[in-house]
Amino acid sequence: MSTPIITSNNAASSISRLLADLQYDRLFILTDAQTAKLCYPSIEQVLTKGYRITIPAGDKYKHINTLCHVWEELSSHGATRHSLLLNVGGGMVTDLGGFAAATYKRGIKHINIPTTLLSMVDAAVGGKTGINFQSLKNEIGAFYPAYSVVVCSEFLRTLDKTNLASGFAEMIKHGLISSEKHWAQLMRFDLNIPNLNTLQELIIESIHAKEFIVEQDPTEQHIRKALNFGHTLGHAYETLAMRRDTPCLHGYAVAWGLIGELY
Ligand code: GLY
Repeated sequence: MSTPIITSNNAASSISRLLADLQYDRLFILTDAQTAKLCYPSIEQVLTKGYRITIPAGDKYKHINTLCHVWEELSSHGATRHSLLLNVGGGMVTDLGGFAAATYKRGIKHINIPTTLLSMVDAAVGGKTGINFQSLKNEIGAFYPAYSVVVCSEFLRTLDKTNLASGFAEMIKHGLISSEKHWAQLMRFDLNIPNLNTLQELIIESIHAKEFIVEQDPTEQHIRKALNFGHTLGHAYETLAMRRDTPCLHGYAVAWGLIGELY
């Protein structure tokens, strides 16, 4: 069964409704410094009862030390097996937070609230969680689907052009492996003057393309490997960029990987 995806134009009210229907003892919110500044203020008023854990922004912090910090924060603030973790942020936050949820007391409930295009269409859905290890991308992790994913288009307004392009690369990947119709819709979309209403429709289509595959093969034994298209080379570019201390956005590495792998 796939994770319920809630699409919304008003994050605060969607989150508030979702929380009202859930049973949990304590609420924790994981976010990064950048998201805390740009996105968190718009949802803060419905999360006042939660304890916020803020980690540094950037893929280099998708690291065991950051994960230890999250475990420590959960533990020292009384998280139990019945606590709920909201991961608010980009792919780094939803990956690391999902893995913290998968491992803390052998698994607590978590909800992903992606704030970047990349995490909306890819990282936050499908249940892959994890961290980088010894400069290898996503080397340690678990399949642990979120209880729910809330996709709020209002967060897209906080993204600059490079972050939009980075997320769009994963959408192009979904277009290439799903249908000619979706591919044509993506090719018609103008990233230079993005219409956020159209983008939201494309995001929903893109998530469906991913979910169609994940439902058939949640733990990547066969067809889910198609979702790694562009990533074998892409992760090599990304790892090299990280080692050179000139990190690149994940989607750019994937786009270069798609071109290389198609060739
Ligand atoms: N990002 C590829 C997958 O979720 O399988």
